[in-house]
Amino acid sequence: MSGTTIPPLALSVEHLGVTLAGRDGPLPVLEDVSFGVPAGRTLALIGESGCGKSMAALALMGLLPEGLRCDTGAIRLLGEDLAVAPPARLRALRGSTLSMIFQEPMTALNPVFTVGEQIAETLRLHQGLDAAAARAGALEMLRKVEIPAAAQRLDAYPHQLSGGMRQRVMIAIALACRPRLLIADEPTTALDVTVQAQIFDLLKTLQRETGTAILLISHDLHAVADIADEVAVLYAGTCVETGPASRVLAAPEHPYTRALLACSPRLRLGAAAAGPAPDLLEVPGMVPPLGQRGPGCRFAPRCELAGADCNHPPPLRPAGAGRAAACWRVGDTTLEAVA
Ligand SMILES: Nc1ncnc2c1ncn2[C@@H]1O[C@H](COP(=O)(O)OP(=O)(O)OP(=O)(O)O)[C@@H](O)[C@H]1O
Ligand SMILES: [Mg+2]
Repeated sequence: MSGTTIPPLALSVEHLGVTLAGRDGPLPVLEDVSFGVPAGRTLALIGESGCGKSMAALALMGLLPEGLRCDTGAIRLLGEDLAVAPPARLRALRGSTLSMIFQEPMTALNPVFTVGEQIAETLRLHQGLDAAAARAGALEMLRKVEIPAAAQRLDAYPHQLSGGMRQRVMIAIALACRPRLLIADEPTTALDVTVQAQIFDLLKTLQRETGTAILLISHDLHAVADIADEVAVLYAGTCVETGPASRVLAAPEHPYTRALLACSPRLRLGAAAAGPAPDLLEVPGMVPPLGQRGPGCRFAPRCELAGADCNHPPPLRPAGAGRAAACWRVGDTTLEAVA
């Protein structure tokens, strides 16, 4: 968890813009998105469905789907700007310095190779190990991700493992080359609740061991509160709030972050109030789809504090103690009324 001194940034995303080619011109998918992940720490990217979390992750990996492109801003990984890196350089970085785990490991694992072969392949490719050393490295990684009977599981095919075990294999592949940044996009949503907690614990343990920075995308605000040091909140393709997780989650500045947290009453009230899980609540209204986003603050149509000034897009501005928020009302005491 965050100490008093923040380490240098492993990843710095600066004014990132991603557009989708449309018939009437490019549509903004991400606009002016800025956040940083300190080395060895975890930043959680949160926001409702469709806000652009996965597109931000794919932009960092250089894996945007067809039709989408990163056309403004910088993505600095250990100082190197990935937004302008040639495809060959990105290929070399992916799987070594930079790696990613996805929501459904079955689609990311190759069904015709054993899990041992798939981990070993990464080690051969990126670390130039010979076959025997790569197999030994694969076994070590299976042990690291706490897969029982690792020596036997090395020769198992993905379909012979449970969902939780498959996700552990994905983590083993992602961490095999000791990446400096691991991106985890909803890494546990396909798993049952107990297994989810185990995977988050494993990520924390491995982070302590390897010092990798983690960019975590999750809808699970309880897990975010538990695992993240920093938070960035996305709304309709814009970054509305960033800062230390403990402060942002305890006292959000942006009305959207407040609304999002209000949907997670147990989190808002703290662990002491944890009783039976509440009904899943939703922020009233919906995220405007691409092409239907006005020129001003994206959240204004759903915001009870919106006024005429919100027709101008508020920039992400410092809001004290390592925090920033994009709202003209930040600092305004009327915000307390909706706390
Ligand atoms: N392959 C694609 N082609 C065109 N537009 C896309 C594509 N994938 C996503 N989008 C659009 O990009 C925007 C951001 O989507 P994204 O998948 O990043 O959301 P998200 O925050 O990850 O949502 P979720 O929480 O549901 O995963 C959405 O408006 C979505 O419709
Ligand atoms: Mg997504």
